[in-house]
Amino acid sequence: MTDKNKTLKNAYQKEKLLIQLEEDDAEATEQHPSCAHGPTILFYRQSQKPQDGYYACSAHRDAKLCKFQMPASKWKGESIKRELSKRTHPLINQERIGRSKIVDPTLSMQALEQDAVNAQYFFDANALAFLAEQCQLLGITKVVCMGTPRLHFHLRDKCKNIQTFLLDLDERFASHLGPKEFCHYNMCNNHFFYDRRPFEDFLRGSITDRVLIATDPPFGCRTELIAHTLHSLRRLHNRLNQIPWTPLSIFWIYPYFAYNYIKQQMPEMEMSDYLINYTNHSRYTNVGDESRAYGSPVRLFTNVPLDQLNLTTREGYKFCPKCEKHTAQTTTHCDLCGKCSSQNGQIYRHCLSCDMCVKPNYVHCQNCRRCTQREGHICSLYQSMQICWLCGSRGHIESNCRVLEKVKKTKAMSTQRGQCCLLCGRKDHRERRCKQRNKYFNETEFMGQKTIEFRG
Ligand SMILES: C[S@@+](CC[C@H](N)C(=O)[O-])C[C@H]1O[C@@H](n2cnc3c(N)ncnc32)[C@H](O)[C@@H]1O
Ligand SMILES: [Zn+2]
Ligand SMILES: [Zn+2]
Ligand SMILES: [Zn+2]
Ligand SMILES: [Zn+2]
Ligand SMILES: [Zn+2]
Ligand SMILES: [Zn+2]
Ligand SMILES: [Zn+2]
Repeated sequence: MTDKNKTLKNAYQKEKLLIQLEEDDAEATEQHPSCAHGPTILFYRQSQKPQDGYYACSAHRDAKLCKFQMPASKWKGESIKRELSKRTHPLINQERIGRSKIVDPTLSMQALEQDAVNAQYFFDANALAFLAEQCQLLGITKVVCMGTPRLHFHLRDKCKNIQTFLLDLDERFASHLGPKEFCHYNMCNNHFFYDRRPFEDFLRGSITDRVLIATDPPFGCRTELIAHTLHSLRRLHNRLNQIPWTPLSIFWIYPYFAYNYIKQQMPEMEMSDYLINYTNHSRYTNVGDESRAYGSPVRLFTNVPLDQLNLTTREGYKFCPKCEKHTAQTTTHCDLCGKCSSQNGQIYRHCLSCDMCVKPNYVHCQNCRRCTQREGHICSLYQSMQICWLCGSRGHIESNCRVLEKVKKTKAMSTQRGQCCLLCGRKDHRERRCKQRNKYFNETEFMGQKTIEFRG
């Protein structure tokens, strides 16, 4: 893994700043101050109270790029009228421009590659064809391209039966697309810089319409923000069409190592094994000198059942009949885990002590009860980042779990602590899959995170 990828991965693992967003229907007193990019986000450390934090830009992840910062204690909320003056779409009178008239500008424009803001990386031809194929397969009639400009131009050119609308922070698209198919937009706070009525008209449809949101946010974006926006757009769509709570199909392109974060926000999302590549990103690709040994780490997360996607039209993928989903050709099905376990194109092996499939180069640490990287492993540091298999919270492992003290210990466990399931003492599984869990816990869902209550 290159240094830059390591940093990116670490950013997902280390302790995070907590955030608070402005709710959609916030009363005047609950509104956040706005910067030039719409309502700001309240950031505060875990050890702080929200009122000791500060407000900062939602879209620019570097204080040099948007200078707005305000200590929370300074913001009185009260009567400051913050409605940003709406700008006008420069092609306000041009409406929808004929399909054939536009050559995809992403092919010639200078991509805005700064990772702290636009992180503009364009799909390669395979990724475009794959995404378009899936939309056709699912019978999608309308696609909201949220930060997916090249996909927008591809669909408008190649899929005549699909209508598309582009929402993007890069305002240059306004000189190519009229107000009926582009709005300058911030997906981190669902802020429309222009009049949003043309977008609402787009969402308003007939009962036979099938709407999908395709988004590919910068990987530095907090998943909470994107999830919040996706929920807001769903609500808007449902309200405009006067239908009860109905989900919209979502394609969310993101790296596989963000899996747990996306799951925490949207447990209904699953990850497809298809590898997404970009033309202007040397590390997130299968080709070139800097390419990664196991190919791009970027995947498609979706709430569409995975068996409804079809990867076999693409090279290097197969169908696993046991999982009933498509997966990479190199993946093997593990009968012990009951699934195809590879997450990043590597062939995983099953570790009996972990009771799951692990990366092939990992070694098992008895102390940590998990397989982990051989080099630079520090038990205490590693354990502080783990999710406990008993109580489901992050920051410790099972042998240090407070719940364990309360669990009545069996004889087997007191002699063989750590080498067996700490709940029942059997050796052939660990706590995650113990049949006796429900004796000790009230839980709704486990690894997808949710509530786990200790009974007793
Ligand atoms: C990783 S690129 C995805 C492009 C996509 N792969 C394609 O080829 O169509 C991110 C895109 O989101 C846009 N973007 C970045 N931050 C945004 C934000 N806060 N709100 C809306 N769009 C944003 C960028 O301008 C860029 O077009
Ligand atoms: Zn800003
Ligand atoms: Zn399988
Ligand atoms: Zn396995
Ligand atoms: Zn192991
Ligand atoms: Zn260890
Ligand atoms: Zn625990
Ligand atoms: Zn057990």
